[in-house]
Amino acid sequence: MRNVLLAVVLAVAAGVVWWFAIREDGSEAIAGEPIVEVKVPALEGAAGDGAQIFAANCAQCHGENASGRNGFGPPLVHVIYEPNHHGDLAFHLAVKQGVRAHHWPFGNMAPVPGVGEDDVNKIIAYVRTLQRANGIN
Ligand code: HEC
Repeated sequence: MRNVLLAVVLAVAAGVVWWFAIREDGSEAIAGEPIVEVKVPALEGAAGDGAQIFAANCAQCHGENASGRNGFGPPLVHVIYEPNHHGDLAFHLAVKQGVRAHHWPFGNMAPVPGVGEDDVNKIIAYVRTLQRANGIN
């Protein structure tokens, strides 16, 4: 009986992993892989500070250079997050209150404690710089 239960749990877990391992174009991808390709421009001032804060607090889900991590979090260098659709306030709210999953199959984002408003402003400077360098305005 226990083995049957274990088999069911494993089968469900395998299904979940498969579901999460999708690329934007629908092809399968390996969990943890970047979701988009990001060109990284020169990062100065607030954007440079933001890059470090992002790497320490956000990249484990949103990927290196905000390129996304399959199975964990979406790329923020993506047309969904252009300033007109997700303004700067969306970043502040996301960090303070978390995000209910609505665009991606990666689950909810929990609030990120210890990242203050100044930090988020620097992260925004960083992400907007990356977006502009990648044709997202
Ligand atoms: C544990 C994983 C995780 C971490 C850590 C994380 N995020 Fe997220 N984040 C997500 C997921 C998943 C979503 C997508 C929810 C959806 O729309 O499906 C998301 C969405 C967002 C959004 C979009 C908000 C909206 O209104 O749709 C922003 C902005 C964001 N994250 C910024 C950040 C920043 C900045 C950090 C670091 C301070 C961070 N995230 C850390 C997982 C994470």
